[in-house]
Amino acid sequence: MGAKKVIFDTDPGVDDAMALLFLARAPELELVGITTAMGNGTIEATTRNALYLRDRFGLGVPVARGAGASLAGVVSAPPTFVHGQNAMGDVALPEAPGSAPIAQPAHRFLIDMIKRHPHELTVIAVARLTNLALALREAPEIAGLLGGLVVMGAAFGTHGHTGNVTPLAEANIFGDPLAAEEVLGAAWPVTIVGLDVTHASVMSDAYLRTLAAEGGEVGRFLWDISRGYAAFHRTVGLDDGFYVHDSSAVAYACDPTLFTTTAGPVRVVTEGFATGHTIQSRPGAWGERPSVDVCRAVDTPRLLDMYRRVITRGQETTA
Ligand code: BDR
Ligand code: CA
Repeated sequence: MGAKKVIFDTDPGVDDAMALLFLARAPELELVGITTAMGNGTIEATTRNALYLRDRFGLGVPVARGAGASLAGVVSAPPTFVHGQNAMGDVALPEAPGSAPIAQPAHRFLIDMIKRHPHELTVIAVARLTNLALALREAPEIAGLLGGLVVMGAAFGTHGHTGNVTPLAEANIFGDPLAAEEVLGAAWPVTIVGLDVTHASVMSDAYLRTLAAEGGEVGRFLWDISRGYAAFHRTVGLDDGFYVHDSSAVAYACDPTLFTTTAGPVRVVTEGFATGHTIQSRPGAWGERPSVDVCRAVDTPRLLDMYRRVITRGQETTA
């Protein structure tokens, strides 16, 4: 079987950049496009960062700019205390991007690509789900044509992991809860890689140092962009390193056997004090709402080993 064709829907973002470079080098996956979302930065910043990563690391795929506001029209302030002022860990970036996104907006690019590759395309969505919701609203038939959707977002309370931006909500779902409710209710094959598993895996400073030493230019870049991200995690109780969010979704797409899942429909609270909270019920509950796979446990040593092997691929010295 050939590599899976993947569109990466992303808000780069330190962990998004780490996941994108992992995806681009993973032999199991073939990156065919990048769509941007606001979140870790404004849509201008995340699109510039996506273009920068594409150009600097020769990814050779189109970048389509996504929605600049949630479905409800909310433009939230970027978490600069997590991802830096430029959403790329405050490493020096050119003021203006050296290239441009394609003319098509992200949701139309998604529709076109899903129709062009029926049942073959996987979308790995590691930001708010606004682009996918807009695509579904415009062309609901794409739900039956997508090969797979892997979502980094949500939290279902496994081992007490219930939220990161509020006690009951994860950032990507909280940022556009209505989009999440619509996307997770469509009849496409969805797997959710949420805080239940991403908070179970940590990349320590020693691990990042190994990547920097063995991973060439990419490894050194990962070290540079992640210093502020690690510092932020020290303020939320993690003494060494940071949680593995977006790269866990890419790891699932490479090898689902790293994770164990539960099946059942998922609903999202869209208003009130629990906005962004996600709940999974038993299969068949909630009428026609389709079942979704939710990751509940992860083999962290295997995941970290896979990430290191992929990032350091081709860098081995022949002494
Ligand atoms: C998610 O929110 C974003 O800040 C990260 O990039 C990740 O996708 C974690 O809650
Ligand atoms: Ca992200």
